[in-house]
Amino acid sequence: KGKRAFIAGVADDNGYGWAIAKSLAAAGAEILVGTWVPALNIFESSLRRGKFDESRVLPDGSLMEITKVYPLDAVFDNPEDVPEDIKTNKRYAGSSNWTVQEAAECVKQDFGSIDILVHSLANGPEVTKPLLETSRKGYLAAISASSYSYVSLLKHFIPIMNPGMLSLQLMTEILNLQYITHRYGGGMSSAKAALESDTRVLAFEAGRKHKIRVNTISAGPLRSRAAKAIGFIDMMIDYSLANAPLQKELSADEVGNTAAFLASPLASAITGAVIYVDNGLNAMGVGV
Ligand code: NAI
Repeated sequence: KGKRAFIAGVADDNGYGWAIAKSLAAAGAEILVGTWVPALNIFESSLRRGKFDESRVLPDGSLMEITKVYPLDAVFDNPEDVPEDIKTNKRYAGSSNWTVQEAAECVKQDFGSIDILVHSLANGPEVTKPLLETSRKGYLAAISASSYSYVSLLKHFIPIMNPGMLSLQLMTEILNLQYITHRYGGGMSSAKAALESDTRVLAFEAGRKHKIRVNTISAGPLRSRAAKAIGFIDMMIDYSLANAPLQKELSADEVGNTAAFLASPLASAITGAVIYVDNGLNAMGVGV
């Protein structure tokens, strides 16, 4: 029987979440996605209008099916957390059940269980500011949207995850890439460091209690919507081309395929790992 995956952080066909969905679909998984509420309408209408059809083509020529799109805002755990200005915001008012807890409940009602959980989302309102110039509010917002969102997703989805299954998140390289990541500001570098550490702690807790594996992919630079918004993604890609062991542009599919491998029984002994999918750039150390 095919596996069922819930991928949080898909709102177009350019990012890593989409590529992971495709690789999992190609391997036979049923795909559910969680889409940020403000991006939901445009994503769903683009899907319906066939705007993504070209990028839905799988290696066997068939089209990836997304069984259901769930609205999600991973910054809020339950309705009590949602402040009035968001509740009454036009972009949120048309959707319901989009806090993490409610999304997990809806998936449970609709499908009973999932086998694979993917966290492919991040947000940092002050990402363009150096850390020294970042406000407390901006820093905490980055950690909330990019790191705690993962803890929260796992916490709420783990009761409906089948044992032996995988939970996966994406981070960027922070340790060996000072040259680039000192510009990855606003507390985003801090958020990614938290994710790296949480991978190990969550792997222990989820492994012991639920027999679930927890791994992280540390991906190289990709021209996604989020990355373009930060503004120096082309420089990061050039830097990788100039310095990485493999001098080719990274494709999102290479990250998707790694996710499919990690989610498969082929990776049954891999947990608590941070896997670099970056043309080897992380191996080059600081100050290349
Ligand atoms: P993306 O724009 O495709 O994905 C980010 C998604 O997060 C978007 O769909 C956005 O709507 C969603 N999002 C933002 N705030 C949210 C919230 N509060 N609740 C729910 N969803 C929310 O961009 P990309 O680059 O594919 O990002 C996916 C992950 O990969 C992120 O964690 C990012 O940091 C990471 N990554 C990206 C790299 C790159 O160069 N693009 C490199 C390494 C890691």
